[in-house]
Amino acid sequence: MKDLLLVTDLDHTLVGDRQALACLNRTLQTLRSRVHLVYATGRSLAGARQLQQEEGLLEPEGWATGVGSTLLWRGEPDPAWDRRLQRCWDRPALGALLSGWSELILQPTSEQSPYKLSYELAAPRMGAEARQFEQRLQAGLRQADLQAQVVFSSGYQLDLLPMAAGKGAVSGYLQQKLGLRADQVLCCGDSGNDRSMLGGPWWGVMVSNARPELLAWWRQVRPDTLLRSHRHHAGAILHALDTLPLL
Ligand code: GLC
Ligand code: MG
Repeated sequence: MKDLLLVTDLDHTLVGDRQALACLNRTLQTLRSRVHLVYATGRSLAGARQLQQEEGLLEPEGWATGVGSTLLWRGEPDPAWDRRLQRCWDRPALGALLSGWSELILQPTSEQSPYKLSYELAAPRMGAEARQFEQRLQAGLRQADLQAQVVFSSGYQLDLLPMAAGKGAVSGYLQQKLGLRADQVLCCGDSGNDRSMLGGPWWGVMVSNARPELLAWWRQVRPDTLLRSHRHHAGAILHALDTLPLL
């Protein structure tokens, strides 16, 4: 049995500093027999694989793509995971409701999937404005009696996901599937869609280049198990591997 489940976001976390990434890749290669490597990204699988090629990313054991709405484990879909997502998820009804919101622009088809409905905001919103918008959206969903997780990232990206999906949910699912304890899991991220996995009962590391929405959340919650690294991108993951009691 391996000792660590390492779940990392790609853009602006694992990817962004080629030198640190090369160093992390070397470390992970020496630890290969001890670490389950999983990429958890907002990208589609095609987009994530393209980034893997461009940046020389190691082959992971799992791909959690579409903000933790699709799981590919050792090259295969995971039917038990998919079944969880079907509950209370009505994508067509959500799409119909939000087609009336003029400030939302549907993302391209390549970014849509059966368990992810994604938009961009016509005008970016930060801080209190972003929170107000999210509340208005939540109220709209309640009124229409629809359930969805609302994930807001980088001031302009909005994902709607089944309640059981998300990067945190998929990390917890894999922890259980692999029979690991919470202190054998490390999640790494930089933006709003990483919040659910960085707030889990396991270890987390937030890169120094974290986005404002993630920092705002961290200032409120300050989880004991989350390292706010002073190092950026893959350097922060190396920092976590060096300093947290993981291996
Ligand atoms: C990635 C995805 C996009 C999503 C965003 C935030 O950029 O391509 O669909 O909205 O991550 O989760
Ligand atoms: Mg990111």
